[in-house]
Parts: sequence; structure tokens; C-alpha cells
Amino acid sequence: MRKNILMSAWIALALLLAVGIFMQQESGAGTEPSATASGKSESTSCVYPKEFMKSHHMQVLDEWRHDSVREGDRIHVTPDGREFEKSLNTCLDCHSRNKMFCFMCHQYANVKPTCWNCHLSPMEVTK
Ligand code: HEC
Ligand code: HEC
Ligand code: HEC
Repeated sequence: MRKNILMSAWIALALLLAVGIFMQQESGAGTEPSATASGKSESTSCVYPKEFMKSHHMQVLDEWRHDSVREGDRIHVTPDGREFEKSLNTCLDCHSRNKMFCFMCHQYANVKPTCWNCHLSPMEVTK
């Protein structure tokens, strides 16, 4: 009997938490101007915080590619409710002010992503 009461308490707590998270996401959607799926945005922040992007943008791209190509899930929604198409072009659109943005840093870090073998490179995009 006691066990049952304890169990219900846990379930109630879990439900409360789930509803709380849901409501937080809902309210978050209204607070920021939402971007178009093309990734063009009034907003000035990256898809994740800058520090995270610095060390994890490859994982983000990897995830985006997987979701987009394998799962057909093409839209990334940020915690603050902005929407971006899961495409390399989304990154390049937003970082278009400096065509060398990706290149310079990779040069410095001595990494050579092979993505540009197939994808349009920032240097080829005319804007
Ligand atoms: C051998 C050619 C090739 C290489 C190399 C390649 N891709 Fe792709 N990629 C494709 C093709 C083809 C698609 C499918 C395009 C579509 O679905 O519109 C795609 C789709 C994607 C997508 C989702 C849709 C889009 O338009 O961006 C992402 C993200 C992506 N690739 C990221 C990368 C990244 C990051 C690299 C480098 C690490 C990379 N790709 C290297 C061929 C390639
Ligand atoms: C809505 C516009 C926007 C989009 C979309 C976007 N970024 Fe950013 N990104 C920014 C801004 C703004 C910063 C912060 C730049 C600064 O403060 O110097 C940033 C920072 C970064 C940084 C860290 C740079 C540094 O000097 O530490 C990397 C790496 C990065 N972005 C890669 C990407 C990649 C890869 C994508 C696509 C998956 C992407 N960004 C999509 C706007 C964007
Ligand atoms: C702040 C510096 C910096 C910027 C800016 C930057 N990168 Fe990178 N990138 C790195 C470093 C460092 C690595 C290697 C990290 C590792 O291997 O752990 C890397 C790795 C990658 C990889 C994986 C390559 C591989 O062969 O595994 C991809 C894809 C990539 N970056 C895409 C981009 C794109 C697209 C942009 C521009 C929108 C960009 N990066 C901007 C520093 C940067």
C-alpha cells in the first residue's frame, strides 16, 4: 500500500516536470523574433552559444546532416524558438559577412573539411 502511494507521488512529480518543460518551451517561442527557415535572421546569436559552437560546430553539422538526409528532419529549433534549416547554407548565410570565416580558422587549426568537394564553398558564393 505504501509503495503504491509512493509510486503515485513519483508519477505526479514526473508529470509536473514534463508539463513544466513543455510550458517553458511554449513561452520561449514568443519571446524572440523567429527567423525564417532559410536561416536569415535579425538575431545576432549563433544556433548555439558561441563558446559551444567554437568546440562543437562539427558535431552540430554532423547531426544536421544526419537528421536532414537520413531522417528528413530539416528544421532546427533553438531553445529560444528560432528556426533554422539544417543546411550548411544556413551557416554560410549568417556568416556571409566574412567569406573567410570558416577558412581562416581551419587554416590556423590545420583542419581541412572535405565538405567543399561537394557543397558550395563560402568562397564560391557570390553575395
Ligand atoms: C561526396 C559529396 C559530399 C561531401 C564530401 C559532403 N556532403 Fe553533405 N551532402 C551531400 C549531398 C548529396 C547531400 C544531400 C543534398 C540534399 O538533400 O539536398 C548533402 C547534404 C548535407 C546536409 C543537409 C542538407 C544541406 O543542403 O546542407 C548537411 C548539413 C551536410 N550535407 C553537411 C556536410 C558536411 C558538414 C560535410 C563535410 C564534413 C559534407 N556535408 C560533405 C554531399 C556531400
Ligand atoms: C543566426 C545567425 C547564425 C547562424 C545561422 C550560424 N551562426 Fe555561427 N555565429 C553567429 C554569431 C553572431 C556568432 C558570434 C560571432 C562573434 O561573436 O564573433 C557565431 C559564432 C560561431 C562560431 C564561433 C566563432 C568564434 O570565433 O569563436 C562558430 C565556429 C560558428 N558560429 C559556426 C557556425 C556553424 C558551423 C553554423 C551552422 C551550423 C553557424 N555558425 C550558424 C551567427 C550565426
Ligand atoms: C573558431 C575557429 C573555427 C571556425 C570559425 C570554424 N571552424 Fe570548423 N573547425 C575548427 C576546428 C579547430 C576543427 C577541428 C576540430 C576537431 O577536429 O576536433 C574544425 C572542424 C570542422 C569540421 C570537421 C572537419 C573534419 O574533417 O572532421 C567541419 C565540418 C567544420 N569545422 C565546419 C565549419 C564551417 C562550415 C565553418 C564556418 C561556418 C567553420 N567550421 C568555422 C575551427 C573552426
